[in-house]
Amino acid sequence: MQTPADLIVILGTGGTIAGTAKTASDGVGYTAAQLRVEDLLAAVPALQGRRLEAHQIAQLDSKDMDFTTWQRLAQQVDAQLSRPEVKGVVVTHGTDTVEETAYFLQRVLAPNKPVVMTAAMRPATALQADGPQNLLDAVVVASDVYASGVLFAFAGAIHSAEQLRKVHSYRIDAFDSAEGARLGVIEEGRVRWHLRTALPLAPLGLARVDRPAAQWPRVQILMNHVGADGAIVRALIAEGVDGLVVAGTGNGTLSASLDAALREAQAQGVRVLRSTRCDAGPVMELPGLLPSAGSLSPVKARIELILALLA
Ligand code: SIN
Repeated sequence: MQTPADLIVILGTGGTIAGTAKTASDGVGYTAAQLRVEDLLAAVPALQGRRLEAHQIAQLDSKDMDFTTWQRLAQQVDAQLSRPEVKGVVVTHGTDTVEETAYFLQRVLAPNKPVVMTAAMRPATALQADGPQNLLDAVVVASDVYASGVLFAFAGAIHSAEQLRKVHSYRIDAFDSAEGARLGVIEEGRVRWHLRTALPLAPLGLARVDRPAAQWPRVQILMNHVGADGAIVRALIAEGVDGLVVAGTGNGTLSASLDAALREAQAQGVRVLRSTRCDAGPVMELPGLLPSAGSLSPVKARIELILALLA
């Protein structure tokens, strides 16, 4: 008899969702990544009765997320999704870099089954912790028949890895999708889809990212601003950078001296991508200008460039 694919695997990586504070009223002075993923599940009685399996992959404040953990996580997600009994995977993560990890997993795996990331703005010990509801919602999304690809379930909304952005430093509803492209909402334990995801790009595959993390290309992000000059670019070239993403102003515009320095970098073999420091909107590809990152935010353009340089 065939086993029904109804198992949801929860992979814990740390973050505020697993954070604790000395007092319940302390929503800021807490330590992230303290509780194990099993503890997070135990705090959600509504999950009882579901087929769940939990594994701790890392225990990090996501500001310290690193390439080695990304490799381990991608391998684990891939291995779990390949089990016939697994319907989907949920990944608990810190909010600070979750949009980067989500984009990385989407580009490397582009999974047909859902990988639903979630997080929290308040530690698990807070009077009104948001983690338990977000975790429940993530499991609901991962169990949904229409869910696929890498998604983010947070504060009742569903975002794609491509569009997800953290837009507030402490508000409980801290995320949005660029250009209003939220995929759906979770209402009383049910998913209501607004949009289906765009056709995903083909997965790059785990082999693309199996080089030891210390040998991954060095790609840095810099910004155009009033008075921006080329000094930082020249310092980075001297340091041995492989790629540069510039968060330009508006439609990816650059001061004349920053533009000149980036062209020097390009002439020396450094790959350059032009993104925007605006919250939304693409950078147009125009003849004669440095290459555009399209609609990718600077941090996601950096991942795209790293993956291209790993080829
Ligand atoms: C983190 O990103 O790990 C800490 C902050 C958070 O999860 O909100």
